[in-house]
This record gives sequence, structure tokens and C-alpha cells, in this order.
Amino acid sequence: MTKIAVLPGDGIGPEITEAALMVLDKAKEVFGLEIETQKGLFGGCAYETYGTPFPEETWQLVQESNAVLLGAVGGPQWDNLPRNLRPESALLGIRKKLGLYCNIRPVKFYSILADKVVWKPEILEGVDLVILRELTGGAYFGKKGREGDSAYDTMEYNREEIERIVRDAFEMAQGRKKVLHSIDKANVLETSGLWREIVIEMSKDYPEVRLEHLYVDNAAIQLVINPKQFDVIVTENLFGDILSDQAAAIAGSLGMLPSASLGGEINLYEPAHGSAPDIAGQDKANPLATILSLAMLLRHTCKHEQAAQAVEKAVEQVLEEGYATGDIAGANSKRVGTKEMAKLVSECVSG
Ligand code: IPM
Ligand code: MG
Repeated sequence: MTKIAVLPGDGIGPEITEAALMVLDKAKEVFGLEIETQKGLFGGCAYETYGTPFPEETWQLVQESNAVLLGAVGGPQWDNLPRNLRPESALLGIRKKLGLYCNIRPVKFYSILADKVVWKPEILEGVDLVILRELTGGAYFGKKGREGDSAYDTMEYNREEIERIVRDAFEMAQGRKKVLHSIDKANVLETSGLWREIVIEMSKDYPEVRLEHLYVDNAAIQLVINPKQFDVIVTENLFGDILSDQAAAIAGSLGMLPSASLGGEINLYEPAHGSAPDIAGQDKANPLATILSLAMLLRHTCKHEQAAQAVEKAVEQVLEEGYATGDIAGANSKRVGTKEMAKLVSECVSG
């Protein structure tokens, strides 16, 4: 029995997780999976009830589970809270507490969405890359503070933190196209200097993998002008946050980008987008990033590759049939809401 803690969160979070749970029900039925889900409060909604965005009750629930499926957190009503009470701090807290240093963000171009991307489609045809973002270090977790009109965030990394994510990246590259792009700012940052040294050292264990180093500013433009050159990208926390949003444009919308955060005994799956409070509760949100995150859960936690692929195929099929939520709808799309999209995807899940 696999136990999943479902943390819907704020804004569109509850709608998109509900959509993913509908797809999960179908996958359970088709593949005979033994999965149990239980919901918990997390983020702004938890703050409203418990006065903290990551209550002890939710942490208990997470610890009794095998995986976490998370919607999204945050909203303007909590923006002025002290940093440690903001919904985002719960997200950083759960990542750190569970030791989820390895964030996998696959980015894929869907030809059917060609008229939604801002790029020329011929540049994107065939793009299918993965960003490995270090998730528990760097400026997100270094010492920070404010004194009068000065503020600082410290970007810190040690050897162990770099080695484990870089090892995962080489392993992934080895199993795919044998190309690895490591992205840093080694011309300026000391952490990047260490990062690059370690990547070079470790590359000796993977002689078949072609290694490229790119400065992050150059990587940003390369992603736009020639994304096909990339297959596996590895980078530190903040660079990965920015580049993955940028890369999401390849998939037509942030609403298409799933993620898996691995490295702990209990791993976490969540869409890469935020809580979109402006469209919350209106059945407008694109649930596909969450549904695709569920597919990653089936792959990495349940080790059920067949079920994972069935969900991914179902998503592609529904897109191919021309169904689209507002964010990815073109002139000829059949526009649907969140619930309808979830229903269509679940109907397409088959063994
Ligand atoms: C993400 C988000 C988070 C991050 C925020 C909400 C704290 O942007 O998962 O990419 O910066 O990691
Ligand atoms: Mg982000």
C-alpha cells in the first residue's frame, strides 16, 4: 500500500489536485494499484487555521506517507507576513525537512500547441529536455538578513551538496542522450567555481557523457535560440528556478510543467507553477502540470513505469484531440475547464 499525503494548498491548488486525484482513481482501477490518499492543510490555508503555514499535524501526516502530492501555495493576502510565516516558507521547509535536494523538471514541446509558443515551432520540434535543479541549498537557504537599508542573502554550497546532484545528473545523462549541460556563473561566483571543479572531477567517472559548461546568462539565451542542443541540464537552486520557468514557455505554458523533488525517503511531486489566485475557484486552471506530476509519482515512488506512461500518453492524446484550457487554447482548440480536462484525461488512461 502506497500512502500519499495530498496537500492542495492555496489558490488553484485545490482544483488542480482534485483533477490529479480523479486521474489517480482511474490509474488505480486500470493497473490495480494500492494507493491511499489523505489530505492535509499546507500554506496560506494552514496559516488561517493554525497560525502557521506548515503545522505539526501536516508534518505528522507527511511522515506517515510514502509521497506527497502538492498543489500550490501563496496568495496576496499573505504577502506581508513575516518571511517565516509566508506560505512559501512552508514549501522551502518541507523540501529541506524531507531532504529533497534533486528537483526534476522535464520540459517537452507538444506540436499541437505550436501556435501557443512564442518561438518558431521549427526551433522547438523534438525538444524533450530535463532540468535538474538543486533544491535544498544556495541562496534560498543561506544566511539572510536585513539591517536598516541593507539586506543580504548568502549563496552557499559545500562539496557533498554539489556531488549528490551532479551524480544524479550524470546518471540521468548516461541513461539518455549522453549529453550534460552544467550551468553556473563561474566567472563571478565562488560557489560556481567549486561547482564547476566538482563537475569536471566527476565527469571522469562518466567518459561516455559529453559535458558542456555554460554561464547562466548564456544558458538563458541558448534556451531561446537553440533549445534542441539540451538534453539534461544541471544547475543550482536559484538558476534552476529561473531557467525552468523560462523553459516552460517551450511547453506553451507554465501550466504544463510538472516536477518531482527527490532525494528523501518521502518524495514530493508538484507542478512548477504557482497558485494563480486571480483565476482560483473558476474552473479555469490547467491541471496538466499536476497530472503530469502524478505520473512522476507513479514512476519514482510507486515504481510503476507502465502506469506513469499511461497517464502521460493520456495527456498527449487529449491535447492531440484539440482539448485545451484557456492558457494553452489556440483559435481551433476545444476549450475546456479544469474538471472537464481531468475527466477527459482519466477517460484516456488505459493499460
Ligand atoms: C518553484 C517556486 C518556488 C521556488 C517558490 C514558490 C518558493 O517558484 O517551485 O519554482 O522558488 O522554488
Ligand atoms: Mg519557480
